[in-house]
Amino acid sequence: MLSRRETILSSLKAATALGLAASSPLGTLLAGNAFAQPTSPVAGLPYGAAVRDGPLDQEADYRAALVRHCSQIVGEGGLKWYDLRPTREQFVYTAPDKHIAFATAHGMSLRGHTLVWYGAMPDWTKSIASASEAERLLVGHIEAVMGRYRGRIKSWDVVNEAIPDDPASRSDIRPSIWQQRLGESHIALALRTAARVDPAAQLVINEYDIEFVGARFRRKREAFLRLIRDLKLRNVPLHAVGLQGHLRGELAIDKEGLSAFIAECRAMGLAVLVTELDVIDDKLPGPPEVRDILVASRVYDFLDAIRVAAPLDSLLTWGITDKHTWVPIYFKRTDGFINRPLPLDAAYQPKPMMQVIAHFLRDRR
Ligand code: XIL
Repeated sequence: MLSRRETILSSLKAATALGLAASSPLGTLLAGNAFAQPTSPVAGLPYGAAVRDGPLDQEADYRAALVRHCSQIVGEGGLKWYDLRPTREQFVYTAPDKHIAFATAHGMSLRGHTLVWYGAMPDWTKSIASASEAERLLVGHIEAVMGRYRGRIKSWDVVNEAIPDDPASRSDIRPSIWQQRLGESHIALALRTAARVDPAAQLVINEYDIEFVGARFRRKREAFLRLIRDLKLRNVPLHAVGLQGHLRGELAIDKEGLSAFIAECRAMGLAVLVTELDVIDDKLPGPPEVRDILVASRVYDFLDAIRVAAPLDSLLTWGITDKHTWVPIYFKRTDGFINRPLPLDAAYQPKPMMQVIAHFLRDRR
């Protein structure tokens, strides 16, 4: 395994090989403060990561990396219906209780992910047969879960992934049991219920695939903006937009389109969070030092486009180390190299991506 110094040096060499001018913003950034940080480059900044139960329980290095770098965490699972509600009657809080205990013990905050999502729904919810039953279950779930963590979980992804991947129109909403039984009104119902249960909580609507160049992604951005505008026009409580940020190594960031989207959100008084940042690198070249630079440059473009239009209030990566990430589940490389989507490598060494994150969090205007 390369030492930190060797990792950075080989990345700098790779940057040059990739024609990344040392004078370019990213080149300067990577060269500028490569070795100087005994402490975490993101210490004291609103940086956090998604945590996974196995390593949280079993791996001291993993816990040490979280404590060293993070001021907040989010459960990769644990607060999803699938984990919380194995049956209609049961609420299982084992994982979130453990996450909040770990966070509290280390002076971190815990984000809540997620109350309303089409994904990770237990089978029994397929039997929800009417609008009144759906409303009772949805409201009851939010009352119970947000009630339990009131004042302790201060920011919630209330609604996750409400827009389809390629919306047929700006008013298209992704199919789910809630959409099926209650229509689009389930979104306002969830946000109003959340605001009633914990009036101090930051209520977030979270989405992905709105940052890339291409017609499909532009349509998704427009449909997401239509939904957000409509909620604000109807005074539905909503405080922030969450950009998941599952970037694709092979897709360029639509900096203009993304900045314009963010500017519109800011104009509606919404905060902007990055909630699940990683770079899906299965289609990038193999050698790690080259790939790490390409990964860092995608993150640079993404955060730069956001920064143009808004201060970055909070940034979480979907995991912290390449050792524990969801990416190989769905985007495994075929060349035998491991995926490298996160700010720390599998030996918990910071990569250029971590410097880019630190740069933009430090430079919050
Ligand atoms: C993912 C987890 O990382 C995986 O372990 C699980 O198998 C599926 O869900 N968007 C989200 C996250 O909002 O909750 C998803 O997490 C990744 C995409």
